[in-house]
Amino acid sequence: MLIRQHFYDFEIEELCCQLERCKTLMITVHQICEVLVNLMENRDPFTKDHSEKVAVFSYMLALELGLPPKVADLIHIGGHLHDVGKFSLPDSILKKPGPLTKEEWQLVKQHPVVGAKCFENIKIFQGKGGVIEMILYHHERWDGKGYPYGLRKREIPLSARIIAVADAFSAMIDRRPYREPLSFDLALEELKKVQALNLTQR
Ligand SMILES: [Fe+2]
Ligand SMILES: [Fe+2]
Repeated sequence: MLIRQHFYDFEIEELCCQLERCKTLMITVHQICEVLVNLMENRDPFTKDHSEKVAVFSYMLALELGLPPKVADLIHIGGHLHDVGKFSLPDSILKKPGPLTKEEWQLVKQHPVVGAKCFENIKIFQGKGGVIEMILYHHERWDGKGYPYGLRKREIPLSARIIAVADAFSAMIDRRPYREPLSFDLALEELKKVQALNLTQR
């Protein structure tokens, strides 16, 4: 009995050790994502810190919707990485102060596909509603008018819809080359419409 008890204690200790390693791994993955995105966003002063805000807003929104903290953590990472595919855009498009041409716009609309492709082999980012899908579908819209695939309603994973709402809010309060930022209150009003479009409609 004593030997058995000792055996279990040892196994439990091993499992705790594994759990600790998983936690450390997730923290490391998170930190690497932050560094990667910071490097990318340094290219453009107008989008600097945008992904950090989206990551924080997405996390808060996920918790507010009652999702488990571990899922909110993953959505936070998706928030950091959602626009990573923009690294492929030239400065002439990324920093263009005026409206984009049709051809330029077609290129911009590919950034979710490019970003998702970058991470397709990362196992912990794969699967239904995982980080790759968050990147790939963060510009889809509930009404089917989004891109790149024009998915509708629940064809779009909830995690991607959460990031879309956070992305919209962050974009509203940020200064862009072509417009001034909205005030917090006005952005909140606008957000209610976007949120209704992406999260709450049946
Ligand atoms: Fe973070
Ligand atoms: Fe985007």
